Amino acid sequence: MTNHAEIIATEKQDAKGANPPIIWPQKANLLPKEIFVRPDVFEEELARIFYGKEWLMIAHEAEIPNIGDFKTTQVGRVPLLITRDNDGEINVYYNACSHRGVQLETATSGNKLRFRCPYHSWLFNAKGDLIGCPNKPGDFPSDFDKSNYPLDRPRMAIVHGLILVTFNPETPPIEEYLEGYIDKIAQVFGGDGNLRLLGAQKVVFHANWKTFHDNDTYHAGLLHTAFQMLNWSGGSGHQTANARGHRSYVGEVTLPEEVNRLKDPSLIEFKGEASECSSASVRLFPISGMTRHLNTIGIRFANPISVDETEVHYTYFGRAEDDEEMIRHRVRQASNLLGPCGMVSMEDAAVFHRLHTAGTTPGNAVFLKGVTDDHGIPEEFQQSDEAANLPGWEHYRQTMGYPKEQS
Ligand code: FES
Ligand SMILES: [Fe+2]
Repeated sequence: MTNHAEIIATEKQDAKGANPPIIWPQKANLLPKEIFVRPDVFEEELARIFYGKEWLMIAHEAEIPNIGDFKTTQVGRVPLLITRDNDGEINVYYNACSHRGVQLETATSGNKLRFRCPYHSWLFNAKGDLIGCPNKPGDFPSDFDKSNYPLDRPRMAIVHGLILVTFNPETPPIEEYLEGYIDKIAQVFGGDGNLRLLGAQKVVFHANWKTFHDNDTYHAGLLHTAFQMLNWSGGSGHQTANARGHRSYVGEVTLPEEVNRLKDPSLIEFKGEASECSSASVRLFPISGMTRHLNTIGIRFANPISVDETEVHYTYFGRAEDDEEMIRHRVRQASNLLGPCGMVSMEDAAVFHRLHTAGTTPGNAVFLKGVTDDHGIPEEFQQSDEAANLPGWEHYRQTMGYPKEQS
């Protein structure tokens, strides 16, 4: 079946079937809509962004707290295996046997210290060493040595427990890549990376990955009914955004004096010092991010599946020092507020889909809130400015090599 993305791609091809170049509008607050629906753009994004000079968030070490715990995931189409070995160290491997390249592990998560490839029974430990491979003397070349066949690894970094990888040797070191944002990540996590996994949900949005990542702060009080009901719109917060496309948000959350719209107001209770009641988030280019709101701590690990599918793992955390009561509270609050069906985020999926469906229409998307000069990108951003997304779009344009339209 032909989907709408393929239709528009075909319509735009010239007589030889070549795709026309993307020409970016001159004004800094405009985006060409076709980048959201063209399959050729998606393929180029995998190469230039997801396999390019970016660090990609793939897990938090609190997801695999015990020796032998593992998780599998993907960056673009590349499958990865994350293990905690018998020394307690975290390892990230390409999830592919070093013999003929079969995907080694298919479970999403589990606990084991040995991984057996089903094809020819090669056996690896959680450190990625090949520890067994059936063969008789004379079967293999005489210089065969198991130590030459470990699992292959991408570059890896850990920041406040957040595990990131890059496939490109030229990606800057993580400290440089996250300059200015390492402390902000700690702030979202409640001080440091000492977290405890409480649960996870997986969702596939029928929308392009950029639609998910571009979700702005302008919409929160307008789209989400619960934000209005609870009067959380506020306005005193602020955002930051840098030239690598990372952005952050910090805002106060004023608890309503009287909650008469919820049968059980404890759902939106804040446990802790009132002065600590706030909302904070960090979104790292290109796609993933983390949020703290009231007592919820969530990380959204996202991955582009195709031009019109985006998979998001919503993971929910508490602090390692939480008592049982606090854990119960966080579990109830987490997915019920900021999960894919949560009170203050459930409308997002519908809007992502509608944005994507109409991405086939001609013209540009426009950003206005917080824009003071439509040819320039502001440096200061208020709580609800959609302009905070513009530095990321300029980073995207440059990474993709799209020229600006000449006047
Ligand atoms: S491909 Fe894994 S053992 Fe042969
Ligand atoms: Fe939203």
